Amino acid sequence: MKRIKKILLKFKPILYYMKGKNLLNDPYYIDGRKKDKLERIKKPIRTEIINFILSQFKRETCYLEIGVRNPAHNFNHIKANLKYSVDPGIEFEENPVDFKLTSDDFFKNLYDNKILSSEIKFDIIFIDGLHLADQVDKDIINSMNFIKDDGFIVLHDCNPPTEWHARSEFSYVQSPALINWNGTTWKAFLKWRCNSSIQSCCIDSDWGVGILSKKHRIGQNLEIKNQFYEYKDLEENREEYLNLMSFDHFKKLITNKTNHNIA
Ligand SMILES: C[S@@+](CC[C@H](N)C(=O)[O-])C[C@H]1O[C@@H](n2cnc3c(N)ncnc32)[C@H](O)[C@@H]1O
Repeated sequence: MKRIKKILLKFKPILYYMKGKNLLNDPYYIDGRKKDKLERIKKPIRTEIINFILSQFKRETCYLEIGVRNPAHNFNHIKANLKYSVDPGIEFEENPVDFKLTSDDFFKNLYDNKILSSEIKFDIIFIDGLHLADQVDKDIINSMNFIKDDGFIVLHDCNPPTEWHARSEFSYVQSPALINWNGTTWKAFLKWRCNSSIQSCCIDSDWGVGILSKKHRIGQNLEIKNQFYEYKDLEENREEYLNLMSFDHFKKLITNKTNHNIA
């Protein structure tokens, strides 16, 4: 029987059929597709979350978005008095942004007073550029210098539903995540979750909307024993590691009058 199977598998159509059948019936594949679909239908999306936070400031607001792609998807819908966009134009050829730069070059120019002003402070900086932990960490470090004391750094893609979504290589699309990619952003977010001078949480929607604050009591820092941030540990401790919460719960924290609220 084994020999017959070996011979049959030499015929490409049979090989493709068997491989395809095995892949589609694989429990990891089935589970991954299920989790991908569940994440995609979660509401609200990042835009609503960002606009809610902006609406709480009783003053004119200033917003910065790092990584914009097509502004019709988020940037154009953001309700701030002043808005700035940064993107080197890797994924969207038209790239109609204010600064056609990588985030590193944008911040370098900002520090050097070559664009805007090195004194500028934003109410919200939305980090959604290159989804690799090292880059996201750099974006957070730079953003900390340009965020108002009561402002918020918001990060997209902090809650990858499977290890396949959390792959470091974007171009590999033969996994259950298909083209969906959260990268290793979660690792940078987790690093900052451990910082005792920062409060943080992650809204359980739209691939995990992470929020960092210097002032608002949105979540105490945590201590993690395994500093290598393995995906398996995230999977086992997701709620605690990310301080995962619903948007409704976040809204209550922000509008609570006893909680250094914005208003
Ligand atoms: C996921 S898309 C942004 C989506 C957008 N923020 C939204 O909400 O619809 C990521 C964008 O980051 C940009 N990008 C890639 N590397 C970058 C870098 N080093 N600095 C800034 N942006 C970068 C890409 O060109 C791409 O347009």
